[in-house]
Amino acid sequence: MLRLDDASLYASYDPSGMLQTALGLSRQVRDAWEIGRAARLPALPRSPAHVVVAGMGGSAIGGDLLAASLGARLSVPLTVVRDSRLPRYVGPESVVIATSYSGETEETLAVTTEAQRAGATVLAITSGGRLAEMAARGGGGVVRIPAGFAPRAALGYLMVPALAALERWGLVDSCAEDVEEAARVVEEVASESGPAVPTIRNPAKRLARELTGRIPAVYAGSPELEAAARRWKCQFNENSKTLAAWNAFPELTHNETVGWGAPPEVRAVVSVIVLLGGDEPERALRRIRVTTELAFRHAAGTHEVRGRGRRALSRLLSLVQLGDLVSIYLACLRGIDPTPVEAIETVKRRMRDEA
Ligand code: PA5
Repeated sequence: MLRLDDASLYASYDPSGMLQTALGLSRQVRDAWEIGRAARLPALPRSPAHVVVAGMGGSAIGGDLLAASLGARLSVPLTVVRDSRLPRYVGPESVVIATSYSGETEETLAVTTEAQRAGATVLAITSGGRLAEMAARGGGGVVRIPAGFAPRAALGYLMVPALAALERWGLVDSCAEDVEEAARVVEEVASESGPAVPTIRNPAKRLARELTGRIPAVYAGSPELEAAARRWKCQFNENSKTLAAWNAFPELTHNETVGWGAPPEVRAVVSVIVLLGGDEPERALRRIRVTTELAFRHAAGTHEVRGRGRRALSRLLSLVQLGDLVSIYLACLRGIDPTPVEAIETVKRRMRDEA
């Protein structure tokens, strides 16, 4: 079996440095905040009705994390659209934040065209591509973020400038302390789970070892943490190249628990990971305990991980940091390079060629 404490493993299986990039999330968050604070923003509509964050995959998850971390603090609703069509309610009072790392994603370009036609205020967050040109030509704003990352490894750059924009537009109160606390707890997680920390004391390496040969089912302990569970699932897909599932309490106790009646040979390959924020009310914890006892006892394993910090952004991003590291360690344990995502590229290429 490959050993995560052997430093040469990373040179062999992670030649593009996905692990080091992931460990830099706290730096990215701080840097992205400054980029967002300095960016030229388009003027808001006179009475903004809502914000739509449009994007796909690694460029969309920042929208979910944003919505979850701000929650009721936003003065208008924020929805995330992962589609090539916008809801019909988008119009001149809408703000559309189009996020595409490459700036070339078909669905995001289509939505941006629709937003411009509808007279919405458009802000593009991208490293370049046609999205940047299109937004600038249409009189919208463009936040240019550094190029050279895999989209999912640029999460801080894709998400945090949108947070800064919402604050500067006055759609949310000051977020500077949220950003600073989040960067600090993310840094703590990274230093406790870095490659130099031996497996015996390293939470990310230990969890990756437990997940080898399993299908992870990542369950958010509360709706607030759904976006983190989704991120874990997508990182298992893209970095570890494995199937994974996500869901959230309390909703999953109204459907998915029944699915744990699957044949024993199916249940035996699924490992449950419950994400907790650390501030769950007693009754919510009770529901998780009861479910673990009744349903997850059939799983290959059940693991609980806890987010850090007082604020929602910190809890979410600390969980994201840990999950990113687990997914990369799992890839290396399998002897797989976490960076390439050929299946994604192939579909994009085929769709372009057939257009
Ligand atoms: O992680 C990935 O590579 C994908 O999920 C991409 O983010 C997705 O295909 C959209 O591409 P982009 O982020 O360039 O808009």
